Amino acid sequence: MIKKCMFPAAGYGTRFLPATKAMPKEMLPVVNKPLIQYGVEEALEAGLSQIAMVTGRGKRALEDHFDISYELEHQIRNTDKEKYLVGIRRLIDNCTFSYTRQIEMKGLGHAILSGRSLIGDEPFAVVLADDLCFNLEGDGVLTQMMKLYNQFRCSIVAIEEVPPEETSKYGIIAGETIRDDILRVHSMVEKPQPEDAPSNLAIIGRYILTPDIFDLIEQTEPGKSGEIQITDALMKQAKEGCVLAYKFKGKRFDCGSAEGYIEATNFCFEHIYKTGSSF
Ligand code: UTP
Repeated sequence: MIKKCMFPAAGYGTRFLPATKAMPKEMLPVVNKPLIQYGVEEALEAGLSQIAMVTGRGKRALEDHFDISYELEHQIRNTDKEKYLVGIRRLIDNCTFSYTRQIEMKGLGHAILSGRSLIGDEPFAVVLADDLCFNLEGDGVLTQMMKLYNQFRCSIVAIEEVPPEETSKYGIIAGETIRDDILRVHSMVEKPQPEDAPSNLAIIGRYILTPDIFDLIEQTEPGKSGEIQITDALMKQAKEGCVLAYKFKGKRFDCGSAEGYIEATNFCFEHIYKTGSSF
């Protein structure tokens, strides 16, 4: 049973400067909740209650968010404002949170390796909180992936089709279709130009990884822009064993970019906040 979910959250969030100069990108609110809270909610819904965060300098607000704020809570006790904290209290009560720091920001692969001691030798999920995912029709994306993992027992990446001109923003996969919504990965390229992309199927910020990935990351040389890429390690895993790519049901918003963030805000306001289910 997978119980742990890692949140690599050490990146600088340069696309969102100056907002992210002194505040973690993961604390940007989408309507009334920070991105990281949506991510932890999705993890808990999938049965992943052991939250492992990889943070960095200037990210202490993340730890404070998942802790009690005595003064504030004392202040609003027995007022109708208490309802605003019901959601975050539920997470605090039902999850455990452990933290480690990535000392140098050497890429997502390196961030995941930095979290190794929080995970140990077991399969785990990874959520990039700036990819905000919703499925209003049923299971959340991580829950869908957990069900697949229970069937296939190998690493799984969530994918979606992107416009061909946008391949250079993503890890792009190609593979053999084994079910309408599942491919077995044959190749994987980090941020290819459209003419070099093997498809338009982009990896988004949800993964289930088997623990052999850590040794594979350790053997991975820095790739594009000097960073240690998780896609390079996953490619090795796909060659040696099996990696599946899953076309998830639902919507994803790239909240690391201004456009995606505004779209997510509008979507949440319409479909979540206004329904009163947003705390
Ligand atoms: P991104 O490239 O989207 O995030 O990395 P970033 O580097 O924070 O943002 P920009 O591109 O400068 O605007 C994807 C995820 O990987 C984490 C980020 O925090 C984000 O959740 N990450 C990335 C790390 O934890 N460490 C790194 O060294 C790089």
